[in-house]
Amino acid sequence: MSRVIAVANQKGGVGKTTTAVNLAASLSHLGKKVLLIDCDPQGNASSGLGVRIDAKAPCLHTFLTDPSAPPPILRPLAPKLDMALLPSHSGLAATEIELFSHDHAETILLRRLSTIKEGYAFVILDCPPSLGMLTVNSLTAAEGVVIPLQCEYYAMEGLTLLLDSIRKIRLRFNPYLSVEGIVLTMFDRRNNLSHQVANEIRNHLGYRVFDTIIPRNVRLSESPSYGLPVLLYDAGCPGAKTYLQLSRELMAGGIS
Ligand SMILES: Nc1ncnc2c1ncn2[C@@H]1O[C@H](COP(=O)(O)OP(=O)(O)O)[C@@H](O)[C@H]1O
Ligand SMILES: [Mg+2]
Repeated sequence: MSRVIAVANQKGGVGKTTTAVNLAASLSHLGKKVLLIDCDPQGNASSGLGVRIDAKAPCLHTFLTDPSAPPPILRPLAPKLDMALLPSHSGLAATEIELFSHDHAETILLRRLSTIKEGYAFVILDCPPSLGMLTVNSLTAAEGVVIPLQCEYYAMEGLTLLLDSIRKIRLRFNPYLSVEGIVLTMFDRRNNLSHQVANEIRNHLGYRVFDTIIPRNVRLSESPSYGLPVLLYDAGCPGAKTYLQLSRELMAGGIS
């Protein structure tokens, strides 16, 4: 049985890609077979793992639109980490528009994924910063959503919109979608707003907030430029330790 988990928040710069990449690497390090799918035309999850492919190379676009092509799955970290990556690049921006002309466009990723997902314990989807067709496809294909949230005042407003979209997706396309949890990212210990935000989410929205809080850690922002998840860049740093802890929490099972 594989668990498909979307890392989503329509807000940019909240730590989606950092969470998707490092969660995937941590789960892989703990012995799970993991496929990371870069669902963002910006291709940050791909470049953050050292994969820079030109705009004609097979990517998620190929996977979604050409069922006869072999799935373009790479293993950029082998032999250190046997984690699989389905990359993307700027060409995926056109996919978003192209998908609209397909019948049942919202379920294309779900259907395509069903042909490959059984080989993996976890499939992690790094969503783009929008609620467009690629995010809708990701949420339709997923059983769980992990929502990275930066601890700031405006984060709550964006969250309400996202939770609303999740409710709509449940009604229309995917009744099995559950919120695995909200993960607080870029936490600054000197600022107690984080605790207020966490309490507010628990009290007012009733959603689970992961016990693990990801601190602001410069190692996390440096590692993508070396094409590495933080675990292979500086295994002892707080970013690496907390993402490992988060992956253990996720493995222990999500609650809606
Ligand atoms: N915990 C963290 N500590 C320090 N920098 C971080 C942390 N999480 C993310 N970043 C940096 O913040 C920026 C935005 O993060 P990213 O994961 O790309 O967000 P998103 O995918 O939501 O747009 C990136 O430059 C990333 O390296
Ligand atoms: Mg991103």
